[in-house]
Formats: sequence, C-alpha cells, structure tokens
Amino acid sequence: MHRVLASLALLVSSTFLVSAWAQPNHPPNPPSAPFFENVTIWAPPASWSSHSGSYGRSVLLNKDGEQGIPTILATAAYSPPNGPYFQIFESTDYGQSWTMISKALFDGNSSLTGGRISQPFLYELSEAYGKYPAGTVMLAGNRIPGDSSSTNIQMYASSDKGYTWEYVSTVIASGPPNTNNGAPCVWEPFILSNASQLAVYFSDQSDPRYGQKLSHRLSTSTSNLRNWSATLDDVTNTNSTLRPGMITIAQIGNGKWMCSYEMGLWSDATAPYATHYRIADSPFAFLSAPEFELRTDTDGVSSAGPYTVWTSAGGPHGTIVVSDSSYDQLFLNTQNGDPGGWQNVTSGHGVGYTRALTVLPGNGGKLVQVLNGGMYAEKFTEITVGDFVVPGLEGGISGL
Ligand SMILES: *[C@@H]1O[C@H](CO)[C@@H](O)[C@H](O)[C@H]1NC(C)=O
Ligand SMILES: *[C@@H]1O[C@H](CO)[C@@H](O)[C@H](O)[C@H]1NC(C)=O
Ligand SMILES: *[C@@H]1O[C@H](CO)[C@@H](O)[C@H](O)[C@H]1NC(C)=O
Ligand SMILES: *[C@@H]1O[C@H](CO)[C@@H](O)[C@H](O)[C@H]1NC(C)=O
Ligand SMILES: *[C@@H]1O[C@H](CO)[C@@H](O)[C@H](O)[C@H]1NC(C)=O
Ligand SMILES: *[C@@H]1O[C@H](CO)[C@@H](O)[C@H](O)[C@H]1NC(C)=O
Repeated sequence: MHRVLASLALLVSSTFLVSAWAQPNHPPNPPSAPFFENVTIWAPPASWSSHSGSYGRSVLLNKDGEQGIPTILATAAYSPPNGPYFQIFESTDYGQSWTMISKALFDGNSSLTGGRISQPFLYELSEAYGKYPAGTVMLAGNRIPGDSSSTNIQMYASSDKGYTWEYVSTVIASGPPNTNNGAPCVWEPFILSNASQLAVYFSDQSDPRYGQKLSHRLSTSTSNLRNWSATLDDVTNTNSTLRPGMITIAQIGNGKWMCSYEMGLWSDATAPYATHYRIADSPFAFLSAPEFELRTDTDGVSSAGPYTVWTSAGGPHGTIVVSDSSYDQLFLNTQNGDPGGWQNVTSGHGVGYTRALTVLPGNGGKLVQVLNGGMYAEKFTEITVGDFVVPGLEGGISGL
C-alpha cells in the first residue's frame, strides 16, 4: 500500500500515469491481493438441463471511495431453467471465495419473453451520469427473446454494488440472431466511460456494407443514459466479407488506447478468428488507426474472443496482457503493442470462450486474475478463477 502512495508522489511528471491514478475516487491504499491458483466460483447443478456456459466477465469495484479490499463481481452466460438471468457472484477476498448475490433479470422490455441473455459485460462508472453516480455498477448483455425475433443490447444499473438491478435502456436493437453476413443483428457489448460520455461498443451486422463491423453508441448524463447517439464506426474492413467482432479496450503504458478483436472468416486455418488490434490516441479513434495481427514469438496467431488489459508490471512500459478463446496461454507485450513483441506464456487457467482479465491491486501490478466462464460445445463447464503472475519487474517505483 505504501508503494501506491510513494509512486503517486514520484510520478507527478508522468502525465499518463497521473491521469490513470487520478481517476475519480480511486480507493485509498487497497491491500495487496494474495496469489491463489484456482477456485471454482460455481458449477451448474445436476437438476439443470444445460450444464455448460461461457463468456465469464468480472469487475473490480474501486471507483467509489472503497475502503479495504475492493469487492469483485463476476458473471458468465449460462442457461438457468427458470431464467433467463445472469447470476451475479461477489468476492470480498480478492477472488478466493464467492457468494451468489443476485439474479439479474433482463426484464426491461416486457414484450421480450423467454429466450436467453448472452454476452454479459460488467462495468463500474468512474464518473456520474445524471441519476447514476460514480460507483454505479452497469451490466450489459444481449437479450434474445424466445421467438428469436430480435437481438437487443440492453443495459441495467445497480446502485447497491450488484444486489439489485434496474433497467436503464436499450442501446441498440436489431434483427434475429444469425451469424451469416447480410443478416442484420448485434452482439457482444463492451462499456467504457470517457470524459463524460459513456460508450457501449458492440459487434454490428446491421450495416449492409459490411458482413460485420465494430461500432459504438454514446450517451451522456442529460438523458440519464436513456438516449443513445447514432452508431459510430470503430473497425471496418475494405474486404466486407470479414467479421471483426468481440472488442475489448484498454489504456496502455504510453497513454494510448488499444482495442483487440477477433477477425471472423479470417483465411488462416490455424486462426479462423485471428486476433487483431489497433492502437490510437483515444478510445474513439480506432477507425483510422493501423491494424495488426497478433502473431506470437512461437509463430502462432491468437484466435477468437480476445480480452485485453494493461498492467504497470513487467518493465518501463508495463505489460499488455491478452487472453483469447483458443489457448490456455496468455500473450504478453512489454513494448507498447509492437507487433514483433508478443510473448506466448502458459496461464494455467484452461481454455475458455472469451475469458476475462482483471489487474489486482498491490504486488506492483504483477497479479492478473483470469476468469474462465466455460467453453462452447462442452457438455459440462464451471466458472473458475485464479491468478496469473506477470513476469519481470514490479510496476510503480521498481518498474520505472
Ligand atoms: C422491445 O423490443 C422490441 C424488439 O427489439 C422493440 O421493437 C421494441 O421497440 C422494444 N420496446 C421498448 C419499449 O423498448
Ligand atoms: C431522449 O429521447 C426522447 C425520445 O426520443 C426525447 O423526447 C428526449 O428529448 C430525449 N432527451 C434528451 C436529453 O436528449
Ligand atoms: C476477403 O475475405 C474472405 C474471407 O477470408 C476471403 O475468402 C477473400 O479472399 C478476401 N478477399 C480479398 C479480396 O482479399
Ligand atoms: C479519455 O480519453 C482521453 C484521451 O485518451 C484521456 O486523455 C482521458 O484520460 C480519458 N478520460 C477518462 C475519464 O478515461
Ligand atoms: C502458444 O504456445 C503453445 C505451447 O507451446 C502452443 O501450443 C500454441 O500453439 C502457441 N500459441 C500461439 C498463438 O502462438
Ligand atoms: C483451473 O481451472 C480450469 C478450468 O476448470 C482448468 O482447466 C485448469 O486446469 C485449472 N488450473 C489449475 C492450476 O488448477
């Protein structure tokens, strides 16, 4: 904990780290997280007809003056018999034990009944938006009704850290779920708040010019996050057959922003959803940024459902950590995303369909928590979580 304060004082001249630390209400002195290998958060009961899921997502709550160990919330997409809902799990010991605290029903649009909710994303507001103060927990997902007549990126809010949920709005609604190019629909939300604008990114098949593209819509406090801008593009391809999808975004060590995404229908049999990425000065400027394929030092290409975070550990520029849906391994880059700099390292957390990563407090940023919600087409999966130790120097003082 002392390291955090000392590094704050030392880093005053480093604009990017100051802006990262100066996020509103960053918790004072969170205790260091202890390392642990792996625990099961939840396993589907025998009584359920479906015993598999995927798409684990988690959020460390630290934007609202939290004291002590920050709470972590987690969820994943499963198929409860009396659903649909997302189960929300809470940990108050940095992920070593978990309790289910709520079932987030996606019931904001009463004309959508039955069916399922897919592709969750959890986020804690770092700034206030109208009636939602900093610290409000947001949950987005794709609501698909029982008659499969539409896809709906809906957003819910919790003012009590995940115990209860209220409907906020539908960011975008489109046609029936169908992954064929030419069929309009939407998928896979990702939330990011930046400078009083809340962005919800999504995979977008609703533009007839592209098989799929990546887009976002913006909202502000004046509408209490009820009204959304027109769709703004983030990643498109001149080859309209290709399907960029499943975006995640992180600010990296040089202050720039990196988005990673899969490229569906990529013509590489070893990486049919090859992970690609772009780096830009702002999270809203990816459209014109150069695109790179994520090829590793073992000459493989990461594929499907990438998830990207940055930690200050590992060297002067910190480390970009990318997970995907094809490998147990994680892909590390200590050179601000240089395409020649990707190391392939064992994670020890199993293959999962779009695992989530969270940088834990303390330890000079060396602990990254990996949440594995399960894997497509398996008969039985569990939600598991464990830590990964980033190699190299601690961040903060010793990393500079
Ligand atoms: C409910 O969802 C349907 C399908 O997307 C949409 O047409 C309708 O406008 C929604 N209703 C409300 C009140 O948002
Ligand atoms: C939000 O949208 C509604 C319906 O289109 C409109 O009446 C209202 O003025 C909008 N509010 C804001 C703050 O833009
Ligand atoms: C566009 O992408 C598709 C799918 O990978 C590929 O088959 C096709 O050859 C590409 N077209 C061009 C002009 O590169
Ligand atoms: C928003 O993005 C700008 C441009 O990268 C960055 O300077 C700023 O710190 C970001 N603000 C927040 C609140 O994330
Ligand atoms: C990562 O390393 C493992 C183990 O050597 C290998 O099986 C896998 O193909 C590699 N993946 C990539 C994307 O390089
Ligand atoms: C952790 O759990 C995952 C998923 O069940 C499993 O694949 C992996 O082998 C486990 N790792 C350890 C170190 O136990």
